[in-house]
Amino acid sequence: MERQVSNIILAGFSATGKSFVGREVARRLSWGFVDTDEEIVKQAGKPISEIFQQDGEAKFRGLERHMIKKACQQKKTVIAIGGGAIVDSQNYKLLARNGLIICLEAKPETIYQRLFRDAASTPETEVRPLLSDNNPLERITNIKASRQPYYAKAHWTVHTDDLSISEVAEEVVRAWELLREVYPERDSSVTSLPQNDKKRRASAHHNDKGKGRNDTDKDIACEVKTTTQNYPIFVGYGLLDKLGEKIKQTGLSGTVNIISDETVFSIYGHKVGEIVKHAGFEVNSFVVPPGEATKNTDFANRIYDFLVEHRAERDDILIALGGGMVGDLAGFVAATFLRGVPWIQVPTSLLAMVDASIGGKVGVNHPRGKNLIGAFYQPNFVLADCQTLTTLSQRELTSGWAEVIKYGLILDEEFFKFLKTNAAMLMKLEPDVLTQAVARSAAIKAQVVTEDEKEKGKRTLLNYGHTIAHGLEAATQYRQFLHGEAVAIGMVGAGKLSQRLGFLSPAKAKQHQSLLQRFDLPVSFSKIDLTDVERAMELDKKARGGVIRWVLLENIGKAVIHSSVPRQDVLAVLQELLQP
Ligand SMILES: NC(=O)c1ccc[n+]([C@@H]2O[C@H](COP(=O)([O-])OP(=O)(O)OC[C@H]3O[C@@H](n4cnc5c(N)ncnc54)[C@H](O)[C@@H]3O)[C@@H](O)[C@H]2O)c1
Ligand SMILES: [Zn+2]
Repeated sequence: MERQVSNIILAGFSATGKSFVGREVARRLSWGFVDTDEEIVKQAGKPISEIFQQDGEAKFRGLERHMIKKACQQKKTVIAIGGGAIVDSQNYKLLARNGLIICLEAKPETIYQRLFRDAASTPETEVRPLLSDNNPLERITNIKASRQPYYAKAHWTVHTDDLSISEVAEEVVRAWELLREVYPERDSSVTSLPQNDKKRRASAHHNDKGKGRNDTDKDIACEVKTTTQNYPIFVGYGLLDKLGEKIKQTGLSGTVNIISDETVFSIYGHKVGEIVKHAGFEVNSFVVPPGEATKNTDFANRIYDFLVEHRAERDDILIALGGGMVGDLAGFVAATFLRGVPWIQVPTSLLAMVDASIGGKVGVNHPRGKNLIGAFYQPNFVLADCQTLTTLSQRELTSGWAEVIKYGLILDEEFFKFLKTNAAMLMKLEPDVLTQAVARSAAIKAQVVTEDEKEKGKRTLLNYGHTIAHGLEAATQYRQFLHGEAVAIGMVGAGKLSQRLGFLSPAKAKQHQSLLQRFDLPVSFSKIDLTDVERAMELDKKARGGVIRWVLLENIGKAVIHSSVPRQDVLAVLQELLQP
């Protein structure tokens, strides 16, 4: 079978520049160019808005499918497709088999601006009606959010916000040069995640050029883009060896201060120190006791003292080597010491790799509540070496899988299937699938954070299962469950609630629960007073502004937010979760 990619497919929301970029890429490669929307207009003899109005969307989608089929028969052609085309699974399969799918991304604000600025010249597309909406930005945001899981299936993504058409074209050509021999895969069945480890590495992160990092670094699983910083997440097996080199490539030059806990430091501290020294850095270390009790201002102070003693300066670097506790604590110190110093996350627990290390939330606990003191402070990069998971305790590992499964449940059905198919190998930490699962989880979290850095919208979806989980954790004074265990039970609860309210089919709810069980996660609890759980949930609700924003599932891979879930339904579900 031919392994060479024969076409380039440009997908993405309207106004991301697919047509212009497509033409430019075709010119550079001396290839053909097809814009399926334009072809539809030619064939129908009328603009798309009229097809929508007069013949209905179904008719348009039929024409679109036909044009995509036709275009896929070409070779050496750049094919620009309509913004909603990739949502259709038949289209997607066909396109994925016949070319390298590159998604052109842009923030809703950028799209909005471009649509208004270019309103006159925008080709007739389904997006026209958006402009006459009362709140066009919100509409764009919503429609785009609903399509995001489909855009995420592209083999590569280019973020176009700060790029000119020719720069985007350059990125597309670069992606093609890098991946042309890899895609399409022979059979991209669910047993592997072919697009995962190459996907998103390309996202053009303009702001970081010049810092000497190689943008096509093959260890990059994804990138986080925020208002303050864009940075890569490296995921690999045995990747610690490259830590020193990566720090150098990032352009950092100060003294390195490794912050770790006793357990992790006793296993990896020496090794990491040597690797970093070998890259030419001076190294100091500070080690704290393991466990959540250390995550407080007292230990933050001790780290400040240590930094002051070592006369640390603004360009000196902190490395958080450990699980989420160390990441939150060291990150908090990095955010505050000298008003912020560079820092690097080296997560060593599964939970930290797929969740805590991504997104820049740092902080410490207060005697009156968890994570009450903190900030958003992004690291310079995250480096996750999946090999370190081989020393993590079984219970911590199992608990970490809950957050991994969560990503599949809320946003990525394909990933859910991957986890199901590969459960046995994943639990044995088989390097290849393990790395894929961590990389995909990190990419999903990174994407959500990129879209919603300060937790105003989409980031809420990550709270799936967490409402009940927080209730259970608090009702048991954080002593009975590891976080992931509580989340697993909470997700089963949220799944049951989704089913009860008619969102999720019983069959899907069952699949949901089975996968958690497959990973040895708990799906019920016993000997806890439901009134305690409910009271804890009420307190949590107060702390979150008086409403519980329930994250529910409409399907596996599709979460929605509901603020008005009747109390009796919640109670009934808690009752179901309680084993006598
Ligand atoms: N910042 C965020 O966005 C965010 C998100 C989720 C959780 N968190 C925080 O993360 C923390 C929980 O993270 P965690 O579960 O990683 O806890 P943790 O850091 O306490 O690590 C759990 C245990 O595993 C040990 N350990 C870690 N890596 C190991 C390895 N490779 N080999 C052997 N032992 C290892 C640690 O020493 C510790 O005893 C909590 O404080 C939570 O609030 C933060
Ligand atoms: Zn969580």
